[in-house]
Amino acid sequence: MKTITITRPDDWHLHVRNGAILKTVMPHTAKQFARAIIMPNLKPPVTSVAQALIYREEILQAVPAGLDFMPLMTLYLTGSTSADEIKMAAASEHVHAFKLYPAGATTNSDSGVADIKSIYPLLAALEKHDIPLLIHGEVTDEACDIFDRERVFIDKYLNDIICNFPELRIVVEHVTTTEAVDFVKACGNTVAATITPQHLLFNRNAILAGGIKPHYYCLPILKRESHRLALVKAASSGNPKFFLGTDSAPHLSDLKENACGCAGCYSAHAALELYAEAFEQGDALHKLEGFASFHGADFYRLPRNSGTVTLEKASWKVPSTYGENNLSITPLKANEELSWKLKLD
Ligand code: DOR
Ligand code: ZN
Repeated sequence: MKTITITRPDDWHLHVRNGAILKTVMPHTAKQFARAIIMPNLKPPVTSVAQALIYREEILQAVPAGLDFMPLMTLYLTGSTSADEIKMAAASEHVHAFKLYPAGATTNSDSGVADIKSIYPLLAALEKHDIPLLIHGEVTDEACDIFDRERVFIDKYLNDIICNFPELRIVVEHVTTTEAVDFVKACGNTVAATITPQHLLFNRNAILAGGIKPHYYCLPILKRESHRLALVKAASSGNPKFFLGTDSAPHLSDLKENACGCAGCYSAHAALELYAEAFEQGDALHKLEGFASFHGADFYRLPRNSGTVTLEKASWKVPSTYGENNLSITPLKANEELSWKLKLD
């Protein structure tokens, strides 16, 4: 049987929520990954080191016995974040980054930043304390076409941030466009990007052709095919600026299958399998290990993992849902066959 063995990977962009959903989703990620950067967009958001440490304990409680998984915590940057909190975060062994959400850009982003220039003093503090800034790079301007929001954010804000804070390490999260790939490539090595499995595997037809498919709706929204191809090329190029970040974002099925469905694709159940499929289609399976297991750790200046995971070429059917009846989460590729399977020892 065809197999591929790689160093244990990490997920550099993950939502696990809290409460009952956390218990459903955490085993999936802990089986696949050694570590994950945990997004702070809870209700209320995780804005302090003290909150992050409590959330970290809740996550560890949800990791099944016998699995060894380390949550890497992040704090939600707001207009009221203090320079002291940034200093404490930088000193904490458990907090690894701050996340910048433009206010209103996505799920639970109401506490995000409305005026990006106004937080420049905070970006200066992040730069000084050498703690990475993770950016949801989309403008929120209602007049801006939803398919252009990432490109416009780069022109309007990212260029300026990078010029003003040349030493600040920045991850442009979940890049979705040719323009974002070109931008990240052109920056110095302080700037990197994560790429999700859905943006490597699907274009916008997946959401809109043949009926509206809410489980493919995420933000930034899937783009046209030429952008998907640019993402596959970047992810499989071996360039260390690009690394794995699933943005797996569980929502209850009925909140997605809704007249105003929320944004997010759930991919933690089969993250590596989905990436393997995308890399195989791009004839680049040999580049999966760098993308999944090395580039992110190097950027965050964390040790690479020891140990390996093996994927085998074996098809299996993704269940229609995960979780109890009243807590059902519909995974990406629900009821469909996947061609790779994570081998559990
Ligand atoms: O689709 C998304 N879902 N994009 C985000 O930026 C947030 C995420 C979520 O938290 O549901
Ligand atoms: Zn996210």
